[in-house]
Amino acid sequence: MRTRYNAAITALGGYVPENVLTNHDLEKMVDTNDEWIVARTGIKERRIVNDAHIATSDLAVKAVERLLSDAKLSPEAIECVIVATSTPDYIMVSTASVVCEKAGLVNAWGVDSNAACSGFLYALTLGASLIEGGRYKNVIVIGADKNSAIINYEDRNTCILFGDGAGAVLLEQTTEHTGVIDNVFRTDGSGKEQLIVKAGGSMNPSSIETVTNKLNYITQNGRVVFKAAIEGMTQTCNEVFERNDLKSSDVNWLVPHQANLRIIQAVGEKLDISTDHVKVNIDRYGNTTAATIPLCLWDYKNDFKEGDKMILTAFGAGFSWGATYLIWSKLRG
Ligand code: COA
Repeated sequence: MRTRYNAAITALGGYVPENVLTNHDLEKMVDTNDEWIVARTGIKERRIVNDAHIATSDLAVKAVERLLSDAKLSPEAIECVIVATSTPDYIMVSTASVVCEKAGLVNAWGVDSNAACSGFLYALTLGASLIEGGRYKNVIVIGADKNSAIINYEDRNTCILFGDGAGAVLLEQTTEHTGVIDNVFRTDGSGKEQLIVKAGGSMNPSSIETVTNKLNYITQNGRVVFKAAIEGMTQTCNEVFERNDLKSSDVNWLVPHQANLRIIQAVGEKLDISTDHVKVNIDRYGNTTAATIPLCLWDYKNDFKEGDKMILTAFGAGFSWGATYLIWSKLRG
């Protein structure tokens, strides 16, 4: 009988820029205030790259270096790198190529996957599939975004929400029942206008007009996204529960995409998972798009024990959304 392989997360790394942008800093830039931002989003501060020469790949490389150092692994051991990002270094040349070069991953091939805030979960399943198929033993999956590159710091609807950061996980082959177990994902392009960067791609190449009209920045219909996020995450989590015969009391940790504390709390309540089992770091980093979930896993890795049952869930532009069932594995190092 063919051996069944699973993809275990055995090492993690995270990185956020040192430069802190507080709510009080934003008060000086747009018509907003700390009280409103904390009450409506839960965000107190976020990290922003303050050097124009630092790109998404640089954030990702720092996360990978921490991962490799913790795992006591040499860069040569890595076979594949998947970078989830919607702020790639370039339109052409994958950020994964740049990461492999900068981090010395000389034996790895790399590819980007763009599904905005759901990007990391989707990339995790892609990476896990390579391992489950039996041909790969070590795959790094990264979620990284330099959102400050696509934020209009004159738009109070969006500039308060986003930060920069990167998180990386190592997926390793195992025959034990651990690691990435199942997922339910959805996409619905009819939601694309609600949260979008309209220019810079093939639909609307960058031009003087697109820049003048601020079309190279994120625009969002916050109320529509808010409602759809709660519905989508709750629904896919419930489907994962059903498919895997899980009850909310079986779930040790809910690790949701960090977009808005009120969204996180609503999803936790609807799933009947108490707040002490829900991981939150949005207060410190804001929404780092594809990086929120791996950053959260990295931040709280000391709280997780081998065998813990975890649900990861995300919602983002596209619309794209879903939930992944993960069993926490023994970490290297
Ligand atoms: N500071 C102060 N007031 C602000 C503000 C800001 N930064 N942004 C908006 N407001 C005002 C609005 O103009 C509005 O005023 P009005 O009632 O006079 O028209 C009021 O606050 C309420 O705005 P609204 O958009 O209804 O607020 P909200 O409660 O929906 O919160 C978001 C706005 C963006 C925080 C919220 O909709 C959200 O988080 N949506 C999901 C966003 C998201 O997570 N996207 C990422 C991908 S998942």
